[in-house]
Amino acid sequence: MKPTSEQTLRLSPDAAGIAQAAEFLRDGYLVAFATETVYGLGANATDGAAVASIYETKGRPSFNPLIAHVANVAMAQKLVEWNHWADVLAAAFWPGPLTLVLPLRDGHGVSPLVTAGLSTLAVRVPAQDAARQLLVQVGGPVAAPSANPSGKISPTTAAHVAAGLDGKIAAILDDGVCGVGVESTIVGLSGDAPMILRPGGLAAEDIAAALGQPLVTRDAADPLTAPGQLLSHYAPNARVRLNATSGDAGELLLGFGPMECDLNLSNAGDLTEAAANLFAHLHALDARGLPIAVAHVPETGLGVAINDRLRRAAAPRE
Ligand code: TXA
Ligand code: MG
Repeated sequence: MKPTSEQTLRLSPDAAGIAQAAEFLRDGYLVAFATETVYGLGANATDGAAVASIYETKGRPSFNPLIAHVANVAMAQKLVEWNHWADVLAAAFWPGPLTLVLPLRDGHGVSPLVTAGLSTLAVRVPAQDAARQLLVQVGGPVAAPSANPSGKISPTTAAHVAAGLDGKIAAILDDGVCGVGVESTIVGLSGDAPMILRPGGLAAEDIAAALGQPLVTRDAADPLTAPGQLLSHYAPNARVRLNATSGDAGELLLGFGPMECDLNLSNAGDLTEAAANLFAHLHALDARGLPIAVAHVPETGLGVAINDRLRRAAAPRE
């Protein structure tokens, strides 16, 4: 079936919905789908035109490489040069909110637009059932950035996706609310030591424990290890102020821990709950059209990823 122009189908995560989504992807159309982290905007990663339409639809700068989503380790091993660290981390955390960056393998077939010309590829096996069934049916890698227009907040519900991309993509595979709520942690495995390239839904401490060695942290100033890490990537429309102890007049306060506020990331001060709420709460406050003040969030565990996203949201706009 060819998608009707300018109409985005809402598909259920049942056999018929997944089959339709897979057909659209194989035919080169864009389909947004739920993963446990955020909704991804998927395209057949071997189809250059389909991948180009991701960049076009998101209005995304073309130097920002994309993650190739696969159903299992065997599919990943067809695309990248596998190594011992990858074995350990895939066994411990896949399927799950972890992306591994490894050297591209000969005959990988992935469009160079996916890697923005790099010789490495980011691969991930998402945990969401419907997403994995979809990837099995597509039978090849699906490139998928978060399903939001570039520079906007990442989507954790189908409604968030529709608000930004309705009428621009073939379909949304609606599988409810994303449980993790922030993007995957990205670990680079192509260098001398495993390196955190982006903090995310899996805590660095857990990764280091599985590896039995500490992780090198990416040098944020190094453009080679941090391609396209645009600082204001996660920006709401509203101005964002961090580490607020209270909201000023005319500001909305996003709280953390017990406090008077407009919305609370976690009343209990729980970082996992806060991560799951982060983007939805930013969406909800941004919709009210006022500047947003955000309470302090501790810089430990998932707090590292939450603060990374918050700093981007608060960064001066490009
Ligand atoms: O949870 C997630 O990771 C979500 C869901 C949809 O899977 N996807 C996601 O994709 O966050 P995106 O495109 O918004 O972020 C991909 C990140 C970018 O920061 C990019 O720079 C980095 O991955 N990346 C991709 N390929 C890379 C590579 N070869 N080397 C270093 N970084 C890479
Ligand atoms: Mg994104």
